[in-house]
Amino acid sequence: MERTDATAHHFGVILTGTGGPGEHNRWLDPEIPGDASVDIDWYTEQAQVAEAAGLDLVFIVDSQFITPDSPPHYLNRLEPLTLLSALAARTERIGLVGTATTSYNSPYNLARRFASLDLISGGRAGWNVVTSGDSGTAGNYGLDEHYDYATRYGRAAEHIEVSQALWDSYEDDAFPRDRKTGVFLDPSKVHRTDHRGEYFSVVGPLNIQRSPQGQPVIFQAGDSAEGRDLGAKYADGIFTHASNIEQNKAFADDIKGRAAAYGRNPEHVLILPGARILVGDTDAEARAIELAQHRLSNSFDQALAELGRPFGWHDFRQYDLDAPFPDVLAHAERSFKTQATQIVELARSQELTLRQVVERLSAPRLSPFVGAPETVADALEEWFRAGAADGFNIYVSKPSQLRRFIDKVLPILQERGLARTHYEGTTLREHLGLPKPANRHSIREGATAGTPVGELLSTS
Ligand SMILES: Cc1cc2nc3c(=O)[nH]c(=O)nc-3n(C[C@H](O)[C@H](O)[C@H](O)COP(=O)(O)O)c2cc1C
Repeated sequence: MERTDATAHHFGVILTGTGGPGEHNRWLDPEIPGDASVDIDWYTEQAQVAEAAGLDLVFIVDSQFITPDSPPHYLNRLEPLTLLSALAARTERIGLVGTATTSYNSPYNLARRFASLDLISGGRAGWNVVTSGDSGTAGNYGLDEHYDYATRYGRAAEHIEVSQALWDSYEDDAFPRDRKTGVFLDPSKVHRTDHRGEYFSVVGPLNIQRSPQGQPVIFQAGDSAEGRDLGAKYADGIFTHASNIEQNKAFADDIKGRAAAYGRNPEHVLILPGARILVGDTDAEARAIELAQHRLSNSFDQALAELGRPFGWHDFRQYDLDAPFPDVLAHAERSFKTQATQIVELARSQELTLRQVVERLSAPRLSPFVGAPETVADALEEWFRAGAADGFNIYVSKPSQLRRFIDKVLPILQERGLARTHYEGTTLREHLGLPKPANRHSIREGATAGTPVGELLSTS
């Protein structure tokens, strides 16, 4: 039986052109144009392939601090909202999710840009909320150091709340646009935000109407307790790493439990881990390709340099490789603390040297989603059935692998009722089976909440 959009599982594709973390040499593959990460035609082609297959969304990760040791895609890439606006004009149905940080954006500006993308795309925009893992980003925004965790996550929560309030500035029938009466706007249907909080003060209203999906979809990425709380409270989707089925099941249960504790429907918080998918003709061939790709992907020296990233790009080249793993956790305090703590705990519990840590972390990852088409489909299904994921954001090493997933694995999932065969809705919320949020002012009949701006308009 064919599943509806609301019950099918969800698939996004992460587009990282010339290669993200751990893939310093991906760009050497002749299939990847050297300028893939800055070529709108390259992104368009991938997005159109994904759209033709009915995938839910394309997912654009981002950061704003680089060193010469950053992976190729990070060194030279397009800004997500600009990129997605161009993709919006060249696609029709697929969701468009972009990463933007609450640490170095102001809510009015960012809410406006996402609302614009949402309108341009006919209700297909999503915002992946991050707090900036790279502590060096501070230096690009006039700060001596990155915010501490309490401030990062405090800003993130307030930023989302203000954005959502701004997105409800206009009720859906705020613009009569009646030529006969000469009424363009009904001033009783526009509401100021009047927010004064710990981190932001925003008067509003926002100068753009709601899109067909009401508000952009919120994703969240950040695994600490603070990050999980943020996601559970506000997010429609959670982006996390795919480790193994048990850990991800525990993660999903934790998030959904926290969401229920906030009074939310846990089914409206979708868990979409990032999954590295590689499809071969046989399991053995796929594993052989995975190993060959891995041999190419990163040298020891590149992996040693990249180990610094979670620790605020701390330079590990200064240490004796064969001495015990150095005491460096303090450098992660304002960076990727959760990931850095896991690395330090691994080193301590197994008494590893720096060299051994680098070797461990850069060893072939042996993703559970590598194999012949049936094998990959079985693995994905196992995760769904276990409740470890509601869908996946897939990483594929190159375009031919995206096509292989679509041509070989997706039909099996469709056959099993685990993936949709075609779009039934037009908005990202509809693809994800999420309800359209009602405008908060329309819910409260008589609109006592927010400040109608009739008087404001007469003076501006
Ligand atoms: C799966 C995942 C993806 C992330 N993607 C980004 C990203 O694209 N850009 C960014 O600046 N930070 C990204 N982050 C960083 C988080 O926003 C956060 O700053 C960092 O993970 C530290 O917080 P945590 O300890 O709560 O995980 C990501 C984190 C996770 C777990």
